[in-house]
Amino acid sequence: MTIRLTVNGEPRVSEAAPETRLLDYLREELRLTGAKEGCGEGECGACAVLLDGQLVNSCLIPLGQLEGAEVTSIEGLPADSPLARAFGRAGGTQCGICTPGMLLAATALLAEHPRPSLEQIRAGLDGNLCRCTGYTRIYAAVAEAAEEMG
Ligand code: FES
Ligand code: FES
Repeated sequence: MTIRLTVNGEPRVSEAAPETRLLDYLREELRLTGAKEGCGEGECGACAVLLDGQLVNSCLIPLGQLEGAEVTSIEGLPADSPLARAFGRAGGTQCGICTPGMLLAATALLAEHPRPSLEQIRAGLDGNLCRCTGYTRIYAAVAEAAEEMG
């Protein structure tokens, strides 16, 4: 089955089996390894990407559903974005496993709520687990980036 989609702005054509998980397609076929496999069950957000601008867990999405879709992985975001800088400054990144998913979740959140309240930040990052930071630094980083982005 031929699937045509766009990944990080680049048109892609895949002949992979339609049941191939988007996570495996990104990591194994495209060698985009920013999305991580954590739980593999849609519970941790380590594999999160944006699909047509919406945050999704790529471990749950079969390639066969992606004809014409636009996917953005962490590799498609600027490395020096206000969010990435704020995560660095606030100590929102420690082991880094959750960071790509957190940055993408925060990107989706700020697109919807440019000046989010703490409750909106918590809700926006709710599906992304972090074992290291205790979340406070991540929430602070998102608030700081929102401030900087005006
Ligand atoms: S690996 Fe996809 S949600 Fe955990
Ligand atoms: S920084 Fe380690 S899991 Fe979040």
